[in-house]
Amino acid sequence: MLVSHKTENNMKASLLFLAVILLVQNGQSANILGIFPMGAGSHYILASKLMLGLAEAGHNITFISPYEFKTQPKSGSIKNIVLEGAGDEFQKLLKESNLFERNKQNLLLSLSTMLKNFVSSINDTLQDEKVNELLRSDQKFDAVIMEQFFNDALKVFAYLYDCPLILLNGGGPNSFVNPTVGNPEAISYIPNMMIKASRNQPMTFFERTKNALSHIIFVQIKNYLLLPHQNEVLHQKFPNVPEVTDLYLNASLVLLNSHPSMHPPQALVPNMVEIGGYFIDPPKKLPKDLQEFLDNAKDGAIYFSMGSNLKSKDITEERKKIILKVLGKLKQKVIWKFEQELPGKPDNILIKSWLPQQDILAHPNIKLFITHGGLLSTTETVYHGVPILAIPIFADQPMNAERAQAAGYGLTVPYTNEDFTEENFSHALEELLHNPKYRDTAQRVSRLFHDRPMKPMDTAVYWVDYVIRNKGARHLRVGSIHQTWYQYYMVDVILFLLFSVLIFVKIVKFVVVKVFKTVRSKVIRQSKIKTQ
Ligand SMILES: *[C@@H]1O[C@H](CO)[C@@H](O)[C@H](O)[C@H]1NC(C)=O
Ligand SMILES: *[C@@H]1O[C@H](CO)[C@@H](O)[C@H](O)[C@H]1NC(C)=O
Ligand SMILES: *[C@@H]1O[C@H](CO)[C@@H](O)[C@H](O)[C@H]1NC(C)=O
Ligand SMILES: *[C@@H]1O[C@H](CO)[C@@H](O)[C@H](O)[C@H]1NC(C)=O
Repeated sequence: MLVSHKTENNMKASLLFLAVILLVQNGQSANILGIFPMGAGSHYILASKLMLGLAEAGHNITFISPYEFKTQPKSGSIKNIVLEGAGDEFQKLLKESNLFERNKQNLLLSLSTMLKNFVSSINDTLQDEKVNELLRSDQKFDAVIMEQFFNDALKVFAYLYDCPLILLNGGGPNSFVNPTVGNPEAISYIPNMMIKASRNQPMTFFERTKNALSHIIFVQIKNYLLLPHQNEVLHQKFPNVPEVTDLYLNASLVLLNSHPSMHPPQALVPNMVEIGGYFIDPPKKLPKDLQEFLDNAKDGAIYFSMGSNLKSKDITEERKKIILKVLGKLKQKVIWKFEQELPGKPDNILIKSWLPQQDILAHPNIKLFITHGGLLSTTETVYHGVPILAIPIFADQPMNAERAQAAGYGLTVPYTNEDFTEENFSHALEELLHNPKYRDTAQRVSRLFHDRPMKPMDTAVYWVDYVIRNKGARHLRVGSIHQTWYQYYMVDVILFLLFSVLIFVKIVKFVVVKVFKTVRSKVIRQSKIKTQ
């Protein structure tokens, strides 16, 4: 009795000891600098959710952002540095441009304006008064976290603070982020954003050629436009820092907002970690009006939103008419994120300028999500197992829509005159609402999405801590980052081997011919001697 009591006490003591060790190990708070100047809605959501998650894991965050961050973390701390004018500039740009017309713009023109915007956003961040105040202070950082999004010059902060650099990528392993840590580019079997490949089959010769070409073009744009322009503004501000091409290759860790349930399987180097969906909160209670509206949707409901940057009000009148006509005929109720009055709106449609998207998707009566196919929206729909009808407009939206369609939980109606017809829209809706295979697939993919060893935010926190604990975890960085393209693809070796084979064949041929000739001349001579 006494003995068992003692062992029990011992056990309690060791459990306590273990708990203390775990606390100390996990609870070591670090100072982290997050640099996220990008003002676009989805980019800001991804940034602020990661900063909040890291703060609540006990870290002290300094968050450079385009908008004021108002949420108070439950633990840790967030010191917010709001960039002067960054958010306003982006909002102005949004107001002035109708993004639905964007795909019609001249590609080169939009490339050059985009380039200018990226460079001036970097310059604004480097020149910002409050950022410079921070640089002048004696504040130290244990890690710098930033988004991999055409802002490589800002990686200088990891150099200035002599601490590990961690990158967040809004999407999966793609050509924006792969080269930063030497991840293999799967150009032979993964179509990139720019090309449309046939569904569910290995890419054909022409698709692979197109893929290779668009990859090569992107690399050239990066090497001859993006990085040099950034290097210029960087060295205007800091004349003695390393070249941007060196900063570019210095990341310790890449956090990918993706998950294998949502993209074709692909190899990852060990310092690339997938945390897809980390930004999604567990569902909360809906506002009373929405709750009632959805509870009363006996035949189910459809949720319709074009995301935070595109505005449904900018959809052309002609297409709006088609949408209202088709949706008005349905038995289902519809909730549409629409930013102004909508005259002639049928009774089964509820419009609001802002809606709690995740909580709506969580409602069991939601049968379908009509979406632009943005990455956050497609991730949220997979989280909740809701099929989609995608109307993709630009950027990665066509690719996400294509992937949903290939996987079998979505259909696409492109926003072009030929495709966006009453017949096509209505047909896609009917198919998605009445063929159970789409919902079954959405639910199956959702189960795959949730089946992982750790919640994605916990994974993010673990790896950020890991990198800080292990002083940059340099042992995870693969050797290919120090190679040129021809070394990496073995072009020099292949050429050398081909050349060697060629030389060898030449020599063999030369010898054989020589031997044959001598033998023949001998034989001829002998036969001449005989006949004489
Ligand atoms: C984080 O902030 C808290 C409160 O200001 C402070 O006690 C703690 O020492 C800070 N941690 C680090 C690593 O500086
Ligand atoms: C960067 O900003 C500074 C200060 O506002 C300005 O003088 C400089 O011309 C800018 N550089 C570029 C390339 O925009
Ligand atoms: C690279 O990162 C390390 C920390 O991991 C840092 O000490 C170093 O200054 C960085 N170098 C460059 C060129 O960014
Ligand atoms: C839309 O309809 C047109 C004409 O009926 C057809 O050619 C086209 O393939 C359709 N597009 C989609 C996406 O269904």
